[in-house]
Amino acid sequence: MRAKVIAGNWKMNKDFRQTEELIDGLKKSVSFDLQGVSVILCPPFTSLELAARLVKGTPFAIGGQNMYFKDEGAFTGEIAPAMLKSVGCRYVILGHSERRQFFGETDEFINKKVKKALASGLIPIVCVGETLQQREQNITEQIVTAQVRGVLSDVSAQNAEKLILAYEPVWAIGTGRTATPQQAEDVHALIRKLLTELYGGTTAERVIIQYGGSVKADNAADLLWQPNVDGALVGGACLKADSFSAIIRAAVARK
Ligand code: 13P
Repeated sequence: MRAKVIAGNWKMNKDFRQTEELIDGLKKSVSFDLQGVSVILCPPFTSLELAARLVKGTPFAIGGQNMYFKDEGAFTGEIAPAMLKSVGCRYVILGHSERRQFFGETDEFINKKVKKALASGLIPIVCVGETLQQREQNITEQIVTAQVRGVLSDVSAQNAEKLILAYEPVWAIGTGRTATPQQAEDVHALIRKLLTELYGGTTAERVIIQYGGSVKADNAADLLWQPNVDGALVGGACLKADSFSAIIRAAVARK
């Protein structure tokens, strides 16, 4: 069985002091046995080094929210994979819908980052998901299929099984409007089927597929225990220790 992976995407929230407060709170509230559930915290760049220091000796891992696909150079404002690794990151979120929507990222561009992250020894959490308009036009399947194919272009089976995919329907992000467990499961099953076509069944069965979009303490368990949902990428609810720890607990304790 695939392990569950819960990641908190802090987005552009929490300064240095607030990072310390939140991680202190998490250390206190997540005092239960995680039973193999992985927990990843993705604070802003300015808090990564502090966060990595604060989680030493805990089961939490640290991830960045973005990176560029070059090693170094004249790319003002960008962060290289080795920089993320040097401050203790093991993961990096790539292709989040907010990057696509507000910063013009395309599947082709995200694919370059995915390949670079993998080559650099970072585990990418690669996001896909349709907009409300696309769902209403009944083209969710085509959109998600094209995104998965695009972001995984030229990624080998060996590398594909290392990465994490996150299905985040754009209409569910920050809206309080969660996909129903069945809606999530349907798209996750579709992604798994596509991975089987691309890489074969063994690899497809190993890939972690997270759901993201208004995951909260009270809906987490129903989403997390769908057969093809292997975890959650949490936004708003990861900013408070009690709600994030309740989501982690939902992944640990089967109803
Ligand atoms: P919310 O949980 O706030 O809807 O955000 C989801 C998300 O975008 C995580 O990456």
